[in-house]
Amino acid sequence: MARTRSLGFLILTSFLCVLAAQLQLRPSMAAAGALPRDLFNLGIASRICTDHNSTAKASTDFGHMFEATPEALFHPRTPADIAELIRFSSSSPAPFPVAPLGNGHSGRGQTLAPGGVVVDMRALGRGHHARRVNVSAAGDEPPYYVDAGGEQLWIDVVRATLEHGLAPRVCTDYLHLTVGGTLSNAGIGGQAFRHGPQIASVHELDVITGMGEMVTCSVTKNSELFFAALGGLGQFGVITRARIGLGPAPKRVRWVRLAYSSVVSFTKDQEMLILDRASDFGFDYIEGQVQLKRTLFEGPKSTTFFSYGDITKLIGLASQSGLSTIYYIEGAMYYSEDGTTLVDQALQKMEALLGQLSFEPGFVFSKDVTYVQFLDRVCEEERVLRSAGVWDVPHPWLNLFVPRSRILDFDAGVFKCIFRDSNPAGLILMYPMNKDKWDDRMTTVTPTSDDVFYNVALLWSALSTNDVEQLHRDNKAVLAFLEKANIGYKQYLPHHTSQDGWLQHFGVKWSKIIVLKAKYDPQAILSPGQRMFLSPAKVSSSAVA
Ligand SMILES: Cc1cc2nc3c(=O)[nH]c(=O)nc-3n(C[C@H](O)[C@H](O)[C@H](O)COP(=O)(O)OP(=O)(O)OC[C@H]3O[C@@H](n4cnc5c(N)ncnc54)[C@H](O)[C@@H]3O)c2cc1C
Ligand SMILES: *[C@@H]1O[C@H](CO)[C@@H](O)[C@H](O)[C@H]1NC(C)=O
Ligand SMILES: *[C@@H]1O[C@H](CO)[C@@H](O)[C@H](O)[C@H]1NC(C)=O
Repeated sequence: MARTRSLGFLILTSFLCVLAAQLQLRPSMAAAGALPRDLFNLGIASRICTDHNSTAKASTDFGHMFEATPEALFHPRTPADIAELIRFSSSSPAPFPVAPLGNGHSGRGQTLAPGGVVVDMRALGRGHHARRVNVSAAGDEPPYYVDAGGEQLWIDVVRATLEHGLAPRVCTDYLHLTVGGTLSNAGIGGQAFRHGPQIASVHELDVITGMGEMVTCSVTKNSELFFAALGGLGQFGVITRARIGLGPAPKRVRWVRLAYSSVVSFTKDQEMLILDRASDFGFDYIEGQVQLKRTLFEGPKSTTFFSYGDITKLIGLASQSGLSTIYYIEGAMYYSEDGTTLVDQALQKMEALLGQLSFEPGFVFSKDVTYVQFLDRVCEEERVLRSAGVWDVPHPWLNLFVPRSRILDFDAGVFKCIFRDSNPAGLILMYPMNKDKWDDRMTTVTPTSDDVFYNVALLWSALSTNDVEQLHRDNKAVLAFLEKANIGYKQYLPHHTSQDGWLQHFGVKWSKIIVLKAKYDPQAILSPGQRMFLSPAKVSSSAVA
């Protein structure tokens, strides 16, 4: 009944002209379940906050597309506190939803828990209790790993491992995300083509199930729960610890962007660079971006990467008749700063590589930074956007995995047709990954056809009321095109508003997901904001997810 589709947009304007667009949840749903009285007799009761200031903090997310206020915000001190809360709910005659909140960087209300309790995971890392990041010490035998609390931010994990000369093999573009939040999706970035998504580097997890059981799991121990929780969208348990494999950390990075006017050359070069045999001569990190011509002409005249001179040069390229888009390969090559021979060797390797690629002659833009500067690069963008007042705006993002064999059709239908003359604020990423680095026993899904698929991320920022509606329409047009052209795509960071959507998303995995849900969260109390299963509070308000 209360399908998201049938809910109206409500748009609030602040005096700063910064907008918060919210798909307003039905009032009946929010009013649904006052929490059972005896919850407040538990030992953890003093950490369950029901005051408006607390609940308001957990009522939306980075996307600012949905809003719903929970009944309470819970600040656990230990994983056992979380287990106690979940055990109470699942064994109660009136179970209520429980949603872990990592850093709240989801985009479609996935952390919301109307009628229930949001668990402030970050509270686990505060205060004077046990260490929440342990790196296997130097002198230990490889494989090296870090044990990190599910609430930890990747930036803190990275800083701790770098002290030992080690780093996670794959990092997301932005590090102010939690370990538990990204592992519940997959965790992708420019190193995933070689090492797979972050979930592929996990050796072991501590998970609290929907019955409040604390389970340690791995490929050899409770493997069913291990695979379910990785990419599990929070549906099977709360990740309180992850043991993550590490590799040696480089000291410095040559970081380049290469501009292309032809999508054919751009994708051909990207696909060559992700081949296993390119590991000797290629980049250690590969992503790519799509630049719409109008955005280049009318957008900022310099960015955190490109100088004023660079943008002027790119405008010259884009001015060629007929071009509506240009493309950048973003590559990084690691090197050690010890000794001039090594630095010279790195430069030679880069020169030799650039000689094999077909970007527009002369359109190489490079930087030389430390590894941590490189990994934390989006933080600098955040600072710029925040100071311009355009960070906390609605983000109607659409993230897609597109099979290699259809990427040119995608480009033609989406960038050269739907967005041909538009000028949306935001960023478009496009880069390929190797499917054989993904473990299909995990919950995350990838396109079923092809050995290579592209991540195409439409990372919009809505700067005005009209933008929210326009971008919403554009995203719908993209999805309609993909269906019509039978592109065989999957959503990453998926959001579906009906079970039918989820069935299509998971395909052959859906029946297994139903079995796993019944086994590990039979009351369907966990992360109801994903709208995958009928949650208890929604049942009582007779609304359907
Ligand atoms: C600026 C920006 C850049 C990004 N870049 C990338 C990128 O490069 N690569 C990439 O893969 N993703 C990227 N993301 C997406 C990001 O991985 C997701 O938004 C994810 O939700 C992580 O955010 P979070 O830790 O704040 O989790 P939240 O948004 O707080 O939670 C996400 C979901 O997971 C559940 N959850 C949270 N913690 C746990 C836990 N411990 N156990 C079980 N379930 C849990 C929540 O209930 C919710 O359903 C980016 C997001 C932003 C905003
Ligand atoms: C709630 O927040 C407001 C504004 O920050 C503050 O003035 C008020 O004292 C807070 N109330 C409580 C109960 O903390
Ligand atoms: C880190 O090690 C300490 C001491 O052994 C332990 O108490 C703590 O639980 C560990 N933390 C994690 C996240 O594994």
